[in-house]
Amino acid sequence: MKHTRYKFSGSFTDFYFDAGFAQLKRITDPKATVLITDENVFNAHAKRFRGWRTIVLKAGEAYKVQATVDDIIRQLIEAEADRKTTLVGIGGGVITDITGYVASVYMRGIRFGFLPTSLLALVDASVGGKNGIDVGVYKNMVGVIRQPSFILHDMLFLKSLPQHEWENGFAEIIKHACIKDAAMFRELESHTLKTYQAKPRLAAALLQRNAQLKAKVVQQDEFEKSVRRLLNFGHTLGHALENEYKLMHGQAVAIGMTYACHISEQLTGFKQTAKVVKILEQCGLPTYMPFDKQRAFDVLKMDKKRERKEMNYVLLEKVGKGIVQSIPLVRLEKIIQGLPS
Ligand code: GLY
Repeated sequence: MKHTRYKFSGSFTDFYFDAGFAQLKRITDPKATVLITDENVFNAHAKRFRGWRTIVLKAGEAYKVQATVDDIIRQLIEAEADRKTTLVGIGGGVITDITGYVASVYMRGIRFGFLPTSLLALVDASVGGKNGIDVGVYKNMVGVIRQPSFILHDMLFLKSLPQHEWENGFAEIIKHACIKDAAMFRELESHTLKTYQAKPRLAAALLQRNAQLKAKVVQQDEFEKSVRRLLNFGHTLGHALENEYKLMHGQAVAIGMTYACHISEQLTGFKQTAKVVKILEQCGLPTYMPFDKQRAFDVLKMDKKRERKEMNYVLLEKVGKGIVQSIPLVRLEKIIQGLPS
């Protein structure tokens, strides 16, 4: 089975593209493996889980919390999972985040891998090693950076993916294009979301390209001291709005990217906001929205990218070239107050 290995500082991740669920038993021994998934994935693909010990969680971001972690740990203890057990998260970003987090703390750390089933998890959440949970409105406030041992792609799961999940995933794809890949941005401009949905090979190539783009960025800067920060484009304001307004992650990031383009206009002279907005709208994503600016700023200033009285904000110089700029909080507050609705 073909795989590509990405080395990180103290570990590596094997990517199995064009693989499939059936290959999982060649990567991890079913007798020493516990799968973690959610009700949606389990109900849509129940046959595939036969013969595997599986923990099925309720679906949704609301369950990416400590209580779910405690529940999984209780079930692992009951199942007599030990240090030789591998956990495999099969699902979207909530499942990959929580699986990676539990695997990092259970018995001080056991092996884990992912089979991402949503677009967002394929291109983003499964890659990079950040695993964690939310605390109230604060997204990913608690967690670790620990790389999965393997990531297995199986495009068949996309068949049961609802339309809004395609849109959700495209936000992160557009983000990658904006910060690092002008050629991919041009490709996205010339195709509609429907084209990718109708052409599985084209979609698989795009997803693979994005997973690789992210893996390469993380390889350069696993612990987010420099270039990895670019991956937060659209996320600072996006995270501040996501739980507060019950948005899907991709929607929040799309809105965050739109406003980050406006902030870029003021601070870097960025001139391509209309192009970014057009491509987001083409993918069915929201761009502008009325929101409580003061409340958003108050949540945003607790973001992990704050350093004392400054926020490291990801801006664009041009499409394909993201930069990180430190903005004093007092200035950022004024800028946010002046953003269009
Ligand atoms: N798990 C997502 C990331 O590391 O960025």
